[in-house]
Amino acid sequence: MTQQTIRVGLLGFGTVGRAVWEIVGRNRERFRRERGVDLLIDRVLVRDEEKARRWCSDRSLPPPRLTTDPADVVENGIDVVVEVIGGLEPAGTWVGRALEHGKPVVTANKKLLASRHDSLSVIARKAGVRLGFEASVAGGVPIVRVLGDALCGDRVTEVCGIVNGTTNYILTSMAETGDSLDAALRGAQAAGFAEADPSDDINGIDAAEKIAILSGLAFGVTAPVERIPTTGIAQVTEGDIRAARDLGCVIRLIASARLTDDGRPDLRVGPALLPRAHPLARIRGERNAIIVRGESCGELTFEGRGAGGGPTASAVISDLLDLAKRPRGECAPAWRIEQPACESPLAAHYARFDAKPNGQLIERCYRALRNAGITTTRFAVARRPEQTDGVSVSLVTRPCRTRTLADVMEDIAEGASTLTAPILRSPDSIPVRRSS
Ligand code: NAP
Ligand code: HSE
Repeated sequence: MTQQTIRVGLLGFGTVGRAVWEIVGRNRERFRRERGVDLLIDRVLVRDEEKARRWCSDRSLPPPRLTTDPADVVENGIDVVVEVIGGLEPAGTWVGRALEHGKPVVTANKKLLASRHDSLSVIARKAGVRLGFEASVAGGVPIVRVLGDALCGDRVTEVCGIVNGTTNYILTSMAETGDSLDAALRGAQAAGFAEADPSDDINGIDAAEKIAILSGLAFGVTAPVERIPTTGIAQVTEGDIRAARDLGCVIRLIASARLTDDGRPDLRVGPALLPRAHPLARIRGERNAIIVRGESCGELTFEGRGAGGGPTASAVISDLLDLAKRPRGECAPAWRIEQPACESPLAAHYARFDAKPNGQLIERCYRALRNAGITTTRFAVARRPEQTDGVSVSLVTRPCRTRTLADVMEDIAEGASTLTAPILRSPDSIPVRRSS
């Protein structure tokens, strides 16, 4: 087999960058033998060359060459650039410059992809090079290639699932070990799952960026991330976890995308209650799972470790090996950007709000629900153990819209914590549209 040496430049040497360097180093000989490609991590852009770093545990890999000059990586002597810095800037400028200089780029940066896929794909097309971003969604689960390539013969009608490892880890820890949200977040950070700014994970923004990318891949159309209806898990309390359990459910952060009948993207992210029989209910820890519904293929589920250095590096390296073989070629067209549809589907909901008890609270709540056309099947008031004069009111509704119910809850709670979450049905009960 002919050998081809590919000089790789890494932008960033954190959780993912370091894992890419280590895994490439450990498998270099195998890649040479099996793929005919010699991947050489030639240089690594860091902020501070003097910073104390933990190198490979087995000491068999010599440390890479470090530089603090981005031009060393994006302009000079490098065949493929890997961007694992994160954030919009300076990462976006450097990715653009690398593409302009005719270098294929691999990135794990969902924030960048979700907001600038259109401009970057124009630069890539002009330069005739490819942009790989398998690692930007669901870590080691190869969902980008599935939607961008493997399913191109089908018409995908819906994509939904768990796409943020940090929040799934937190919700699992809260339910199974009784950890507080803060303690569980610290665990996720220590394991390298969380974003540099973990509020992106907690507030659902990371999941919104990922569902925007999946929508672009599945439908060729997506929505601006800031317009995607997004709720995170910051408001989920231990009481909510217990209430979900009493209803035979678990709480998960669910992202979903579909096209409306008039061709608009309907994307949303928020906590949902899943009956234990639901396939997404058994997804624990940092694992992700994505259900894809296709007109002809029916329902497909993809599952695996969605965060962490190893799984993400695995996706980066698969792009690297692919680009090493085909560095040039048609970059997929830019996705159309449209304002998302706003109306959530009708579903039964769990909702909870905190309040100070007063004689009219329950009456006010019933009146507000009645005025909004919402009826309940369960209603409970519990004293909040951490507050002498605070109560939590929780309820289960008949099918209604999330926004309508959330507005009612926020009105009554007057600034106190509220949670509004649809109770999903098992997919077995959702009809799949099939072509004849
Ligand atoms: P990280 O651990 O925070 O690493 C980022 C690295 O980039 C750090 O080493 C940081 O340097 C470096 N950096 C930041 N600004 C820089 C600059 N101006 N010049 C040079 N270096 C700079 O982040 P990560 O977890 O590896 O994530 C990297 C990317 O992968 C992000 O886009 C993230 O969303 C994505 N991703 C992460 C995961 C995951 O599980 N961690 C999974 C999928 C995708 P310092 O060390 O000096 O701060
Ligand atoms: N912070 C992200 C998560 C990393 O927890 O899913 C993987 O994209």
